Amino acid sequence: MSAEVRSGAWRIVSASIEACERIVCACALLLAGCGGPQSALEPAGRGAERIALLFWWMAGGTAVIWLAVVGLAVYAFRVQPGPRGKQTALLIIGGGAVVPTLVLGVLLAFGLAEMPGLLAPAPEGSLRIAVTGEQFWWRVRYLPPSREPVELANEIRLPVGEPVQLILESPDVIHSFWIPSIAGKMDMIPGRVTRLTLEPTRTGTFRGACAEFCGESHALMGFHVVVQEREDFARWLERQGASARPAAGLAARGRELFLANGCGACHTVRGTPADGVVGPDLTHVGSRVSLGAGILRNEPGGFRRWIASPEHVKPGVLMPAFGMLPAGDLQALAAWLEELE
Ligand code: CUA
Repeated sequence: MSAEVRSGAWRIVSASIEACERIVCACALLLAGCGGPQSALEPAGRGAERIALLFWWMAGGTAVIWLAVVGLAVYAFRVQPGPRGKQTALLIIGGGAVVPTLVLGVLLAFGLAEMPGLLAPAPEGSLRIAVTGEQFWWRVRYLPPSREPVELANEIRLPVGEPVQLILESPDVIHSFWIPSIAGKMDMIPGRVTRLTLEPTRTGTFRGACAEFCGESHALMGFHVVVQEREDFARWLERQGASARPAAGLAARGRELFLANGCGACHTVRGTPADGVVGPDLTHVGSRVSLGAGILRNEPGGFRRWIASPEHVKPGVLMPAFGMLPAGDLQALAAWLEELE
């Protein structure tokens, strides 16, 4: 190899090493932002723990291979430059075929060994929750063994340390149900029922999302997951199963407006004549962490904004706009809905 070719090659290797250093720095910065309520790298459930472990093994394996390749490149161009003959053929066969086959084989075996644990159903008698992917929100039905189902929307509460069986469905398009902190993702496929077991390991509020493109507001299809102690969870479920509380004053006027404007054709509020099933059940909407499936704060302003122009908040949503209502009516409606805790 001539001196010019060697120095040219070394410049390429140096530039590659520099680029790799930059990538590592960028990755470190990115990883620093990998915590929070929607992070698969900060697990709060059995499934997420397995997946995070798999991720770290793969990341570690990749780092080792990268170091070995860069080390060999430095050795070849810097430490012992020159023609190699037989050595090169061995390196190509070893480094190009044998080592990758071994490494990928081990990672595949490791990944496959994790799968039965990730797909195992919850034990018989576990709490069951049916979740349906709608346009663009989540219908949630708790199916307790000893009582009537309890329907709500865009929020899931779970007792800590207990396996829960999710039953996932969709009436029209494919969605994918994903709570990164708690478990892996599972598709919701029209005409099929898929299942996912959740087993949260610590209390807290986490965030879930749709992980399959399902339409123009796919990215606005979130939900909150609240993991609670057993007693707190039981009290919450009991309250969710009850009818809406009676209204007085401004809220009572909001209730009248809700019924007069036909909102009950799409929404159910148990304890009132509103019994529609097209949209989310609003019986306890005031108690939810967010509005509009994870995108608006649960406060009177959020309700007013949503009712007046849902299309601007979430394009493609089926809810019609009620922006023609006078401001006072919107205020009364928001007051009632906010009180439905
Ligand atoms: Cu539902 Cu994307």
